[in-house]
Amino acid sequence: MSQLFTPTMLGSALLQNRIVMAPMTRARANVDGSPGPLAAQYYAQRASVGLIITEGTQPSDDGQGYPATPGIYTDAHVTGWREVTAAVHAQGSRIFFQLMHAGRMSHPLNTPHHRQGVAPSAIAPVNRYLPCQV
Ligand SMILES: Cc1cc2nc3c(=O)[nH]c(=O)nc-3n(C[C@H](O)[C@H](O)[C@H](O)COP(=O)(O)O)c2cc1C
Repeated sequence: MSQLFTPTMLGSALLQNRIVMAPMTRARANVDGSPGPLAAQYYAQRASVGLIITEGTQPSDDGQGYPATPGIYTDAHVTGWREVTAAVHAQGSRIFFQLMHAGRMSHPLNTPHHRQGVAPSAIAPVNRYLPCQV
């Protein structure tokens, strides 16, 4: 505990303290998948931690699992995320990206193209919310 607020190295990254913010899906991205207008402000407000891990972000339109999650596969996405990283760096914090391909957890209604999601696994996920499958 006495070292919680002291700097440390994580690989090549110097962290201003040892507190890390877990990735949390916000579902607030723009329709085109770029971070929403408040994203930079949201992350900057939390940048007193040593390291922020972004919300899960789809690396392709086939990887989207939930509505309004951000992507990182178009120039507009990159531009939006650069605003986020600049705002976080300005507060002295670091930010790592979480790439999240939802695989079979995606649904055609949640993708921009409404195609069935692409996934590497032949094993269907268990829906833990259905009483008949507990
Ligand atoms: C609203 C919400 C969104 C989350 N989104 C993600 C996510 O995008 N990626 C991820 O790996 N975990 C996600 N998680 C899981 C958290 O990062 C964390 O692992 C989880 O809340 C357990 O942490 P805790 O034991 O400190 O509560 C999310 C959790 C919450 C509450």
